[in-house]
Amino acid sequence: MKALVWCAPYKVQVEDVPDPKILNRRDAIVRITSSCICGSDLHLVDGFIPFMKPGDILGHEPMGIVEELGPDVDQSKVKKGDRVVVPFFIGCGKCFFCKRGLWSACDNTNPKSYLGEAMLGQATAGVLGYSHLTGGFAGGQAEYLRVPLADVNLQKMPEDLTDHQLVFLSDIFPTGYMAVEQCGVQPDDTVAVWGCGPVGQFTIRSAILLGAAQVIAIDDRQTVPERLKMAEDAGAITIDMHDEYVYDRLRDLTAGLGPDICIDAVGMEAHGSTIIEHLYDKVKTNLFMETERPAAVRQAIMCCRKGGTVSIPGVYGGWSDKFPLGALMNKGLTIKTGQTHVHKYVPELLKLVQDGKIDPSFVVTHRLPLRDAAHGYDIFRGKKDGCIKVVLDPAA
Ligand SMILES: NC(=O)c1ccc[n+]([C@@H]2O[C@H](COP(=O)([O-])OP(=O)(O)OC[C@H]3O[C@@H](n4cnc5c(N)ncnc54)[C@H](O)[C@@H]3O)[C@@H](O)[C@H]2O)c1
Ligand SMILES: [Zn+2]
Ligand SMILES: [Zn+2]
Repeated sequence: MKALVWCAPYKVQVEDVPDPKILNRRDAIVRITSSCICGSDLHLVDGFIPFMKPGDILGHEPMGIVEELGPDVDQSKVKKGDRVVVPFFIGCGKCFFCKRGLWSACDNTNPKSYLGEAMLGQATAGVLGYSHLTGGFAGGQAEYLRVPLADVNLQKMPEDLTDHQLVFLSDIFPTGYMAVEQCGVQPDDTVAVWGCGPVGQFTIRSAILLGAAQVIAIDDRQTVPERLKMAEDAGAITIDMHDEYVYDRLRDLTAGLGPDICIDAVGMEAHGSTIIEHLYDKVKTNLFMETERPAAVRQAIMCCRKGGTVSIPGVYGGWSDKFPLGALMNKGLTIKTGQTHVHKYVPELLKLVQDGKIDPSFVVTHRLPLRDAAHGYDIFRGKKDGCIKVVLDPAA
């Protein structure tokens, strides 16, 4: 089959690779109909998560049709021919964490947990197509995908909605939703969102759906005007980090208090709010003296009102420098974060789509044949051609 493989930092390409096979008795093989490129994939391509091997297949936001099932799959849950979305984290459904809805913390699905234990203290669950830190599983930017524990992980989808309305249930819709929902937003709250990429877009719309009084979106109008426009279309007030003082504007918009909830939807490759900050983090990451550039979360902590909540869906890998612990502690802030517990949110969010409360296809700017996946990475990474979200089509 064809699949998009990681070759080296800054190099991915579509190659012929062996078809996946049923390895365990509860595996499924899914024929992929749509598979997205995510900001998290850029962290792998840019070498910020150094646990990739040449030949690893990327992709953790797929959906498709069940092609084959292992003999022990519970067929009351999933059958051959079902249309399914695949959550990016693999859960077991039975451990301490899965039972509490903390699916991304599952203790049974990461066969390389020793890496996570060394990096993080305890390992996360396994993830499809997301490095050896999360198990080294082949990903779904491919014609076919093997999914372990299929009867727990495959999420059955209705036939009357399009792929573009459903595929984001695999990751970025639950991610944006959890980023807001876990803060317990109140009707008079102001929610500020750093980053208007695909995750930021779903965070903004989730904040509105969950009843925030005011949503403010921050990004760079020079490089991504279309992302700020999409945020405005959703009803957000926008701040251009290139031309405006984010801290001052946020105070002006909140009667001098600062936003109640500040959400970092940027992650480890943030641009600094000043050139000096950006250069500082760039030099330190290049010298392996810190693992990420945490400029957005620093600013979120500094801007948040006293007693407010900072939520971090943006991905970080290890050790950050100049983290404003003093502001966090003295202002009495609450931190909410986490890799998304996708399984927990799918039923609720699918219902919102079915009830017409949101049409997730708004975010798609490019649908490309799988064979053009490397081009998809190029325009998504470089913010070229108005690119906000790329969906790959293996059948095209
Ligand atoms: N928690 C999870 O489970 C989860 C799931 C999916 C993605 N993510 C993470 O969410 C983050 C965003 O993903 P994406 O697909 O939207 O990525 P993206 O790269 O498309 O978007 C990031 C946006 O942030 C903007 N930005 C950069 N520096 C900024 C700053 N200092 N202030 C404000 N905006 C800034 C960029 O211009 C860009 O538009 C990534 O770190 C990704 O790994 C997390
Ligand atoms: Zn993703
Ligand atoms: Zn589990």
